[in-house]
Amino acid sequence: MTSIESKISTEAKPSLEIRFASLAAAPAPVSVVFAMSDLKLSGSARQLDEKSGGFLTRAASAGEFTGKDKQSLEVLAPPKLDSSRVLLMGASADASGLDMVHLGGRVLAAIKARRAESASVYADLPEMSAAASAEFACALAEGALLRNYEFRRYRSRPKDEDNAGKSNAEDAGNGKPSTLRSLVIHVARPELATELFKARRPVVDGVLLARDLVNEPANMLGPVEFADRVTELRAAGVDVEILDVPALEKLKMGALLGVAMGSARPARVAIMQWHGAKSKRAKPVCFVGKGVVFDTGGISMKPAAGMEDMKGDMGGAACVSGLMLALAGRKAGVNAVGLIGLVENMPSANAQRPGDIVTSMSGQTIEVLNTDAEGRLVLADVLWYAQERFKPRLIIDLATLTGAIMVALGKEYAGLFANDDKIAAELSAAGEAVGEKVWRMPLAKAYDKLIDSKNADVKNIGGRFGGAITAAQFIQRFIKDTPWAHLDVAGTAMDSNRTDISQGWASGWGVRLLDRFVADGYEKAEK
Ligand code: BES
Ligand code: MN
Ligand code: ZN
Repeated sequence: MTSIESKISTEAKPSLEIRFASLAAAPAPVSVVFAMSDLKLSGSARQLDEKSGGFLTRAASAGEFTGKDKQSLEVLAPPKLDSSRVLLMGASADASGLDMVHLGGRVLAAIKARRAESASVYADLPEMSAAASAEFACALAEGALLRNYEFRRYRSRPKDEDNAGKSNAEDAGNGKPSTLRSLVIHVARPELATELFKARRPVVDGVLLARDLVNEPANMLGPVEFADRVTELRAAGVDVEILDVPALEKLKMGALLGVAMGSARPARVAIMQWHGAKSKRAKPVCFVGKGVVFDTGGISMKPAAGMEDMKGDMGGAACVSGLMLALAGRKAGVNAVGLIGLVENMPSANAQRPGDIVTSMSGQTIEVLNTDAEGRLVLADVLWYAQERFKPRLIIDLATLTGAIMVALGKEYAGLFANDDKIAAELSAAGEAVGEKVWRMPLAKAYDKLIDSKNADVKNIGGRFGGAITAAQFIQRFIKDTPWAHLDVAGTAMDSNRTDISQGWASGWGVRLLDRFVADGYEKAEK
């Protein structure tokens, strides 16, 4: 056990239990009910209002609560009710499924801020059918679990005195640990909601796994430790293989191994297979992730400021791992393979140098002009291997590949590059549906020219302009005629925009997107 491990809290991660119960079940001390504009109350809200002799509507008018989306009002000690606090929350009349998930996030935040241990949420909106309310209940549960996530593993002080009074954003991750243990979602058809949630819960688990992996510091999560974590997916029914260095040498993954050379910690490639299609031999969809557990830049070293963020340079690999957990957990009707290249990019006496020429598994030689453009080297070999071995019907890679994609798109959209318009359109649609948006960027011969090398087949940098594009062009040189998309997630996987359902540094971006992409396009009509 390392000294750091001995300092960390051995207490199990505080977990939040979510269950669905009938509308009539006894409520917790804190209840949440919904309303819409012009104080249209949901059926549940109306019942509580009547039971309390109109207290809720009087409180609403005194508190200027009209039920508009994003409004909320806390009603304390309403008479004759079993809950001592009722939270009235506004909802939009044309809320989409995604809006409802985000509403679940805001509900959770409101409850957490009250330091409650248990709460009841009444999943109905004015004029909502029983079937629709089961879906609503699921969306609320999904949003609540996503919002509830905190990475507190290495905080040994339970009470957090040093932050007391400094922040009123109690659930922002630097406040007190959450007290909430149980969330009961009351719904007209709890058995239906429970059934529906069986397909949603694994996706949440996948997102949380991805966040955990990205948040882990690199001293705790090297390539070997990452591979070990991935073997835990076997419990969900995923076949997991780990390739060690001799295996990678045998496969001639010279590009990936060149990156790993500078590190004392050996490289790994993990292969995760989920067989969910009717035919075990149906061509799989493949997902490939960049898993640089830490990117110092190597000999072309990065500046010190902000370098700590490079512990998240395995965001692509984390997403692929989370996605495989999601697909297996909900028993998706698809054959899917996840492959991740795990290395550490370090400078050392044994590190590769600028100017070195390595031979990739494809046979193409690469002139490494900048050792900090390492992600594409890792992907080159893993993508080649994936195509050779699995002959996939399509392949999608995810990588925190370039700072340039953030210059182009900021943190709202991930960069999408594709050799196939259908996949590009499907990814864009899935992204809009789950709020993990992608923006298509160009690929073209003129950009490809920029990575021709004088001394080898290709060089790993393309010059000052269009850095995200030349990186994608590099990757495309290792794509055969497989339908392919590349997602540059440098701006979205880590230090991401805070939303109603993601409040931390690691977002788990891409798990929900790719789960939706698979569900919408690749589960029904198996070829
Ligand atoms: N991991 C970085 C990209 C990155 C930067 C991700 C910031 C997240 C936040 C990648 O390996 C890298 O260093 N890319 C270089 C490429 C350059 C040397 C051509 C970059 O973007 O500067
Ligand atoms: Mn780099
Ligand atoms: Zn990197």
